Amino acid sequence: MTLPLPLAVTWPPEAYLWFKTLHIVGVVVWFAGLFYLVRLFIYHREAAELDPPLRQAFEDQYGLMERRLANIITTPGMAVAVAMAVGLLLVEPIWLKQAWMHAKLGFVAGLLAYHWFCYRLMGQLQRGECHWSGRQLRALNELPTLLLVLVVMLVVFKNRFPTGAATWFLVALVVFMAASIQFYARWRRLRSERLAQQESGGAPA
Ligand code: HEM
Repeated sequence: MTLPLPLAVTWPPEAYLWFKTLHIVGVVVWFAGLFYLVRLFIYHREAAELDPPLRQAFEDQYGLMERRLANIITTPGMAVAVAMAVGLLLVEPIWLKQAWMHAKLGFVAGLLAYHWFCYRLMGQLQRGECHWSGRQLRALNELPTLLLVLVVMLVVFKNRFPTGAATWFLVALVVFMAASIQFYARWRRLRSERLAQQESGGAPA
């Protein structure tokens, strides 16, 4: 690819490695933020089950933690990851002609949409307008895990993306982890309902 004149600079030999280092750091920070943000949404949503004075205090605290996490960690992590990715492509524009990169960019677009959707959910939670249950939010939190696995596989295997048993094992593992989280949350909820019933003198179900 021929770059427009101002971008056709000669990069120092280590520029690519610096961009890649910071790209990986940005990706790690971005994902740490995305994973913890939706976990906070779950706690925020479940605080609605508390009695009024406690409920307000918890909702305010989770709201504050969410805004700080999103604005100080998650979005800057995303900006660094994307800016450094642009740097990588400027140094090695040949990547843009390869199929694995097209697939990667597709998944990254999905990830950016997820990031935007988290902000939307955060706004709804702050206004008390979020209708997602804790269970649905837990399921939503599995989406970036899947995208992470796919994107990392693409950058590692590139055009030799594996479709054999090992890939299916990995997919099954992600699905198993997601299902275990759902089952554990359900078991905990049923157990606390049973305990509450016993404490109020009712017969256990
Ligand atoms: C904004 C879109 C993105 C672009 C254009 C992009 C581009 C690139 C490029 C060109 C490389 C260097 C490949 C190599 O030297 O072999 C790279 C490396 C890497 N990218 Fe991205 N990337 C993007 C987003 C992401 C995301 C969202 C993740 C994580 C989910 C990610 C994870 C990685 C990892 C782990 C490496 C290191 C791979 C290695 O050195 O083997 N990238 N990326």
